[in-house]
This record gives sequence, C-alpha cells and structure tokens, in this order.
Amino acid sequence: MGAERAFYVCTECGESSAQWLGRCPACGNFGTMSRESREPPGRRTTLAVSRPLRMVELGGEAPRLQVGIPELDRVLGGGVVPGSLVLLGGEPGIGKSTLLLQAAYALSEGGAKVLMVSGEESAAQIASRARRIGCLHPDLYLLCETDLERVEEAARELEPRVMIVDSLQTVRCPEMDSAPGGVNQMRECVLRFQGLAKDSGSAVFLVGHVTKEGLLAGPRLVEHMVDCVLYFEGERFDSLRVLRAVKNRFGSVSEVGIFEMTDGGLREVEDPSRHFLDRRPQPVSGTATAVVMEGRRPLVVEVQALVVPSRLPAPKRVSTGIDHRRLAIDVAVLERKGRIKLDDRDVYVGISGGLHILEPALDLAVCAAVASSRRDRALPPGTVLVGEVSLTGEVRPVSRMEERLREASRLGFSTAVLSARSRARTSRLDMDILEVDDVKGALARLGIYAADR
Ligand code: TYD
Ligand code: MG
Repeated sequence: MGAERAFYVCTECGESSAQWLGRCPACGNFGTMSRESREPPGRRTTLAVSRPLRMVELGGEAPRLQVGIPELDRVLGGGVVPGSLVLLGGEPGIGKSTLLLQAAYALSEGGAKVLMVSGEESAAQIASRARRIGCLHPDLYLLCETDLERVEEAARELEPRVMIVDSLQTVRCPEMDSAPGGVNQMRECVLRFQGLAKDSGSAVFLVGHVTKEGLLAGPRLVEHMVDCVLYFEGERFDSLRVLRAVKNRFGSVSEVGIFEMTDGGLREVEDPSRHFLDRRPQPVSGTATAVVMEGRRPLVVEVQALVVPSRLPAPKRVSTGIDHRRLAIDVAVLERKGRIKLDDRDVYVGISGGLHILEPALDLAVCAAVASSRRDRALPPGTVLVGEVSLTGEVRPVSRMEERLREASRLGFSTAVLSARSRARTSRLDMDILEVDDVKGALARLGIYAADR
C-alpha cells in the first residue's frame, strides 16, 4: 500500500486538484479548496441489470407510498417511490425537521415503519417537540447518531419502509478521515444511502442545508445523485412556507405545496388564493390583483405598490416577492409606453402573503398597481389582470387562461383584463372580459391613464 496522498477538492463544485489553490479553477470561488484524502477503493454500487433487456418486458411503475400529507404527496409526484432518495433542502430554521417529523408521523399512521436519524438535535429535544405537536407514534423510531456505519446497522436491523436523515451534513463515514459536510464525505454518504435504499426498498429522505447563496451547502453534486430534490422556502418573519420540487425522476417539477407554520407545527393551506388575498371593503389605490400559476394550480394574488416623490438622482425601485429586474422593466415600459411619469419617484412593489413569484403573467398587474398608486386612483373593484407586458408595451397572452379565470371567478371577481390576442374560451365564465392590446390601452380601460402626464 502506497503512502496516502492528500488532494484538494472544491467544496462548492467538487473540482479536484493535486495542490492547494487559493481559488478554484473551475467555479472561481476563493478559499473553497479543502484537503481530502483518497476515497476508500472498491466500494461502488453496481446496477443489477448487466445485459440488455427489452424495455417493454420490464415492470411498470413501482407502487408509491402515500405519505398522508396531500401537499407533500403532490410535490413528490403522487407519493414517495420505494427505494428512492429524496433530498430536502432549505435554509436553517425554515421547518425541514418539522415537515419531516410530521411526514414520519403521517407515514406511521398509515402503517409504515419509519426510522428518523438525527445528528442535529438530542433525542429528548425531538421527542418533546413530537409530543408538543402531536407526532408521537409507536411505529416511529428515533436514532441520534452521526456515524454512517451505525446508521446502516440500525436500518438493517429495523428494516424501516422510510428512513429520514437529518441532516446529510452531519453524517460521517468513519473510514474517511475528512470532516463531515465535506465533498467526499457527502458523496460517499449519499452513495451508501443509495445502496441501502436500492437493496432494502426503503425510501430515504435526506435533509440538506442551504447556504445564503441558495446552493446546498457543499457541492451541487449531491443534487445529481438523488432521485428527487425538494426545496422548502419562505420568509423568516412570515408563516408561509412553499415546498417546491426542483428535480423529480418520478414526476413533474412544477408542483408546489403550500404550508403555514403555526404553534402546532406545519398546517396545509387548503385554499391558497383566499389565503393570499387581502380583502378590503373598499378598493384602495396602489393595489391590483393577478392570477398566477404555481405549478398546475392557479393562485389569486394581490400586488401592492407605493409610489412616492424621490429626492435621489437615481430613484429607488424596490421589490419584494418579484424579481427586481422585472420591476425595473415594468417601470420603464410604464414610463415610456404608458405615459406614467416615474423618473422622479421611488417605486416600491410587494406581493401580499410573502410569496415569491417569477411568472411574467404578473407584469400587467404590477404595471396597473404602480400606475394606480402614482395617479392615486383605485382600480375598479372585482378586477383581475393577467398578462405579460413586452418591452414594446404590448400585453401578451399567457398560458392556461381559462383555469386562471375560473379561479378568479370562484373567488368572486367579476372582471378580467387580458390580452386581445388571448384565445381563451371565456363565454362559459360569469365574468366581463376586457381585451386590451397594450399597457396604455389597459390603463385607459381601468380609468387611470394619465393623458396629461
Ligand atoms: P425546524 O423544523 O427546526 O427547521 P429546520 O429543520 O429547517 O432548521 O423549524 C424551526 C422553526 O420552526 C423554529 O424557529 C420554530 C418554528 N416552529 C414553529 O413555529 N412551530 C412549531 O410547531 C415548530 C415545531 C417549529
Ligand atoms: Mg432541523
């Protein structure tokens, strides 16, 4: 056996080098190259199929195990697949441990044996939390351990249907001398959990912490190795939590699950549109309502804008819940094409309920809310606006218009403003449809067009 040679691996991207470098040559991050020793040789999971098979003769989809929390089951693509590896990422304190504790309880209630492994909290802490939020169950096992081999041993002994590892960054493979959370450690641990899942048919949930930059602490490498990557998101000071799939080998990635953090743990939000809507007896200026798609689900949300005189040479454009570049574009289009003077005003825009929305279908409502605040005129009551706004000021049609309008109609909205090029079949809806070509036209129809500037 030759002398153990050290080498260096970037903790962000997994690039390796024989010498230490101050800056990673692959991803360009500084100070991320950390010392590792060679991986133990010879341990690799191999696929059971080693000769070509006719695909039609292979078995169909494995039956899924329902967790019993519908919002979570939907994001997983209809339940968890036995033998699969699911990574749950999210910032510290967002509620990952709580979500998985509740999932563990729901699974036990459904008759599945569950093993929770925690390297982060003490058994007493977890049990007391479980008791407090009503998640104690005789078929729910807890192991506080960070040693990978002992975790594997416990899993072999107990044979759980589902295993939860909280967190991946605290588990340590004793044969490797590097610290837990390093690239090699994590890769090895994921490989071993993969082997365990495939051999035993247990589904394994791995918790992964996310750094401020939005990446899973450590390499993205882990994301490539697992079957399913879920992110749990939300604002720290808001009770709303959104569960999103960013990768799913067994389903769609457009689904989201919506929860609220309460004193008694996470609660599913059953009628999100109602939840996000700020109801007022009288319409106020600076608000506009849009219908966006979160996954396959339409969601009615309110855009709030505040436009105030600015003392700055470059007035502020501040957004929460929408992309700031998007806001800058909408403001520029309003100014140039909508004839709303904003170059001497600060503009603040937010979304009610703490949601973060990327969909361009929100543009028209953003423009209307800003114009409404600038002109201090409220939009007509009961109106929703759905449309993307192009740089030319045109209002463009968006997908799934009928579903969106049905949702708005269900919540009592009576008028919809949308693109004249939208081919939505709206005749069966009990709504007035205002078709518009451009932002200027939309503002005119809403009574907030400023012909005088
Ligand atoms: P936790 O699940 O520990 O987060 P993570 O595992 O992602 O780090 O949740 C931590 C936060 O959730 C904590 O700040 C307190 C809050 N919380 C509640 O508000 N209600 C509850 O019932 C529980 C269990 C937690
Ligand atoms: Mg935790």
